[in-house]
Amino acid sequence: MTGGRPLLEIHPADTWADHVADAVAERLAANPDLVVALPTGSTPLPVYERLPAALAAAGASFGAATVVVLDEFIGLPVDHPVRCDAVLRRTLLDRLERPPARFVIFDVDEPDPDAACAAVDDAVAAAGGLDLVILGLGANGHVGMNEPGSAPDAPSRAVDLAPSTIEAARRYGADPAPSRGVTLGMAPILAAREIWLLISGTHKAGILQRTLSDPITSAVPAALLRGHPGLRLIADDRAASGWPARPRS
Ligand code: PGA
Repeated sequence: MTGGRPLLEIHPADTWADHVADAVAERLAANPDLVVALPTGSTPLPVYERLPAALAAAGASFGAATVVVLDEFIGLPVDHPVRCDAVLRRTLLDRLERPPARFVIFDVDEPDPDAACAAVDDAVAAAGGLDLVILGLGANGHVGMNEPGSAPDAPSRAVDLAPSTIEAARRYGADPAPSRGVTLGMAPILAAREIWLLISGTHKAGILQRTLSDPITSAVPAALLRGHPGLRLIADDRAASGWPARPRS
C-alpha cells in the first residue's frame, strides 16, 4: 500500500508470468500449508505453465496446501472440459509432481447451489481461512463471478452471469453456454490475508484504469479490493501502459 493506494507492480510482458509463478512458489516455500483460491480463464495459463518449474527451483510444492477453485459454472455436466474444476485440474493440478492435499470445489451437481457455496465456505474455514486469493480481472471488472453490482459484503453464492461472461464460456467451448454460476463472494475474498490481482494484455488496459481510478463502488467489483492491506496488482506492461510502477497517493 502507498498512501491508501494499492501498489501496482508492472513487469515486462515476456517475464510477467515467470515473476508470478516465482511469487507463488515463494509463498508455498514459506508456508507449505497455504490455503489458496485459484482462478481459471486465460490470464493465469502462462503462470500455471511455469509453476512446476518454479516450484522445483524453490524446493516447494502444493503437497500440504489447500487449493480452492474460485468459481464454477452451473449446468455443465461433471466431465465437461469448460468446468472450472476440470480446467484447473488440466492446466495446473494434473501437472504438479505433488497434487494439493485438498482440492475444494463447488458441488454444482447438488440441486441447491447455495448449499454448495456453504460447503466451500465451511471447507475454507476448516482449513484455517484463505491465506491468498489469486484473481483474474474480468473485462467488465468482475472478480471470480462477482459481476458488476456485487456488494463488498456479498457472500459466496449462486449468480446470474453477465453477457460477457456467458460469451467467454461459449468461446471456451460450452454451447449452450451456462447463464449461471457459483462464486466465492466478495466478503470471503476480502477476508483473505492476501489478494493478488493478475492483469495481462492490452485488452485489459481500460478496465485496469477503471479498477485503479473509478470510485470504489459495486459498478467495478475489482475496485472494491482497493484498500485491502494485502492487495497486490501484478500487471504486465501491456495492461499497465501509461501507469507509473508506483502510483502516488
Ligand atoms: P481472462 O478472464 O483471464 O480469461 O481474461 C478473467 C476473468 O474474466 O475473470
